Amino acid sequence: MKKNAERIIIFDTTLRDGEQSPGASLNAQEKMEVALQLARLGVDVIEAGFPISSPGDFDAVQEIAKKVKGPQICGLARCIKKDIDASWSAVKHAKKPRIHVFLATSDIHMEKKLKMSRQQVLDRIGEMVAYAHSFCDNVEFSPEDAVRSEFAFLVQAVKIAIEAGATTINIPDTVGYSVPFEFGDMIRRLLLDVPNANKAIFSVHCHNDLGLAAANSLVAVQNGARQVECTINGIGERAGNASLEEIVMAIKTRPDLFSVETGIHTEEIYRSSRLVSRLTGIQIQPNKAIVGANAFAHESGIHQDGFMKCAQTYEIMTPESVGVPSSLLILGKHSGRHALGKRLKELGHDLDDKSLIEFFENFKVLADKKKYVFDEDLLTLLEEKSGVAEDRFKLEYLQTSSGTDLVPTATIRISFDGDVHQETATGDGPVDAVYKAIDKVTKVNVRLLDYKLSAVSGGKDAQGEVTVQLENTSGATARGKGASTDIIEASAKAYVAALNRVILKKTGKPPVDISKEKI
Ligand code: KIV
Ligand code: ZN
Repeated sequence: MKKNAERIIIFDTTLRDGEQSPGASLNAQEKMEVALQLARLGVDVIEAGFPISSPGDFDAVQEIAKKVKGPQICGLARCIKKDIDASWSAVKHAKKPRIHVFLATSDIHMEKKLKMSRQQVLDRIGEMVAYAHSFCDNVEFSPEDAVRSEFAFLVQAVKIAIEAGATTINIPDTVGYSVPFEFGDMIRRLLLDVPNANKAIFSVHCHNDLGLAAANSLVAVQNGARQVECTINGIGERAGNASLEEIVMAIKTRPDLFSVETGIHTEEIYRSSRLVSRLTGIQIQPNKAIVGANAFAHESGIHQDGFMKCAQTYEIMTPESVGVPSSLLILGKHSGRHALGKRLKELGHDLDDKSLIEFFENFKVLADKKKYVFDEDLLTLLEEKSGVAEDRFKLEYLQTSSGTDLVPTATIRISFDGDVHQETATGDGPVDAVYKAIDKVTKVNVRLLDYKLSAVSGGKDAQGEVTVQLENTSGATARGKGASTDIIEASAKAYVAALNRVILKKTGKPPVDISKEKI
């Protein structure tokens, strides 16, 4: 606990802005899983979605509002009555609901996108913030593209929003255009120039187009912002949003510079990161700060020597402080259920007896294939087994043959809503043959956009983790992941996982095509 530290509100938008990343869309059950983990992580506000954008998103926000306890639950709305109605209907079940309304204030957005005059924009902000406030005391207003807005006009817009009842003013760098000294100064000047600034909490929402989102957010905190909007792993539109783990750990690691604190349980960071990566299918780059595979790896001899003499020579935070499992290899095929249960508990997964018995069976299958089962293997297996109940295609059987003189051939058995179908296909390689056989069984017309293979842990017998991205005929994309010691099987699992997502989306456009509507 820092002395006299002010609290920074952590507003997590993984389920709204993060979910807008291409191919990242989550179904309701997945959104719920992430929301429950965000509550364990200790975020103050969960922006659960954009309720007007689709019936699916509406339902997901509503379920989260009903079930997730602890954080405030927020729904996004444009400055349009029906958006605000939808947002309120979805979040009103929460103990602490919040409506977040936004309208662009930069000349380029007002002229080209909204086709509204400055006065019309100001009037609309006043009317719609007041409308949202008529439902809910907790209203956030964002002047979209604030960074590129004329400063004096931005001051006017913010003043009107506060007068109309906004209790949080969020300043977005929508296109990730600002740099730290400019952004910090902007926040400082806004707090001075907006006459009623003391009646609201100022927040920031930075995008990462220039790789400066976390830096801009931190400098805003230094200049008086008291809420930061961010996402797990920094996922989000284009280059993403400010990364929660980077902001939180900067504040925690440098108490000499930041006299503020967050309510984040940092030991839950790694687990949150893994979950979001698995469910969205967006892999984490190995050198990603805090949560990347290499974030705590010391390769050079000089570094290893220094690290072994005193960890702080090359480590500014411990892996344990962010919940990264120590990579001690402790389990193998002779390990018993008790040892497995104990290790899982240390990793933060306290399974009940029935789940442990089931998981032990899966563990033994893996331990038969791999000499050492690392913590990463256990986490990957756990994630796989907590698969999505809504999966309609299930991989039942896979056989491939390939070699220098063989035509790669695959036989696949897949069940669809319980009925099992089998097909055989040949291809350019075993993975191609598998994918062709799956296509024959499932008859879903998709294009493979991306295929990535990586090792879950070290060693020749490491599990391979495959991520694929598929696109259906209407342009909707979906990702899927699969892991196995057999990379062909991992490839098949990933493809089937992505297909299960694709069939949830009939079209690439949201059911209500909000981009075409006039505000
Ligand atoms: O980037 C942005 O401007 C947004 C707003 C809706 C806050 O996401
Ligand atoms: Zn955004």
